[in-house]
Amino acid sequence: MQGGARIVQMQEADIDAVATLEAEVSPAPWRAGIFRDCLRAEYECWVLQAEEVFGYAIFSLGPGEAHLLNIAISPARQRQGFARQLLTKVASIARVHGVERILLEVRPSNLRARAIYEKAGFEFLSRRKKYYGPPKKEDAFVYTLAL
Ligand SMILES: CC(C)(COP(=O)(O)OP(=O)(O)OC[C@H]1O[C@@H](n2cnc3c(N)ncnc32)[C@H](O)[C@@H]1OP(=O)(O)O)[C@@H](O)C(=O)NCCC(=O)NCCS
Repeated sequence: MQGGARIVQMQEADIDAVATLEAEVSPAPWRAGIFRDCLRAEYECWVLQAEEVFGYAIFSLGPGEAHLLNIAISPARQRQGFARQLLTKVASIARVHGVERILLEVRPSNLRARAIYEKAGFEFLSRRKKYYGPPKKEDAFVYTLAL
């Protein structure tokens, strides 16, 4: 991967960096405690790391289905294909666990993320009314990728 970057499992020690990045990129950021809960619940929590953590993906694995809960790349490292690489990692882990599809929710206004998901093969499945709360209330689009 370019620049010595690698995808590794998130550790408790990464949480501050992850929460700082989340606050930079999300309109309704998860606090550090949510990331900690995800780790303790043994969700799949992965970070992109070079000298520092600059991206992450969190997903849960259920019977037949994975649910992508959060994904982000540091603004300075966006548009270099890193989200695509994280999505590839998510799909490969999901496949190993016998999962048949990945689901995710995305804000309809997040054209960037939607374009990336569509390029990665995700398809629009449905609309969830009033899914996102304040400060930016919005419906969600549900996308799915068949594995
Ligand atoms: C969404 C996000 C994760 C994308 O990260 P990224 O590393 O910039 O994405 P990538 O560089 O991997 O882009 C993947 C592909 O989408 C394409 N793409 C990116 N933006 C695009 C746009 N606005 N329109 C069309 N295609 C676009 C890229 O060209 C790339 O395709 P290519 O590899 O064939 O060139 C990043 O913008 C981010 O962290 N946003 C804030 C958090 C967020 O919105 N997360 C998603 C919540 S659902």
